[in-house]
Amino acid sequence: MTEATQTNGAHGEEPSRRDFIYIATGGTLAVGGAFTIWPFIDQMNPAADVLALASTEVNISELEEGQEITVIYRESPHFVRRRTAAEVESARDVNVASLPDRDARNFNLGDGAPATDENRSALTAEIAEGVEIDDALRASLLVTSANCTHLGCVPTEGAGDYNAWFCPCHGSHYDTSGRIRRGPAPENLSIPIMTFISASVLRLG
Ligand code: FES
Repeated sequence: MTEATQTNGAHGEEPSRRDFIYIATGGTLAVGGAFTIWPFIDQMNPAADVLALASTEVNISELEEGQEITVIYRESPHFVRRRTAAEVESARDVNVASLPDRDARNFNLGDGAPATDENRSALTAEIAEGVEIDDALRASLLVTSANCTHLGCVPTEGAGDYNAWFCPCHGSHYDTSGRIRRGPAPENLSIPIMTFISASVLRLG
């Protein structure tokens, strides 16, 4: 038997009370260390408000003409509608000067852009490098906030004077471009930042 083995044998004895105190102290330090380190690690994780800014990707390839889906972006519902040609035409056939809100309310354009249907549609979305996407498809896509600009209710699809969106809470009528036409809502439904990251995926944010 070697000396090293004998030494190990001595450590193999039942731990004395003093050993136990050392072990217990070491354990406490290790746990205490973990609690001390955690706040620093936690600070490195994205804060909730940063996560809330995350983007949302929408697969538009399965959206048929006349179909609409609701997606969550920045914790708020948003309508994504692929409009019919008739819906686009009726939205374009409107004199902007006659609208209650003449601003496009489109974050892709900034303040002051007129509320034409072209300025409200996904024609204003950025297109990632190398992506090819049909103009008619871009013009047909409308993405808006799904919160009424009066007090935030979610309007009903395919209803109201314009057969588009109607907010039943206090009677606001939006047209097929998501523009307020009648009722107490003060503004058009807002349009988020959008990018076509492929021919079938539209990213919000
Ligand atoms: S919340 Fe929509 S009309 Fe009041």
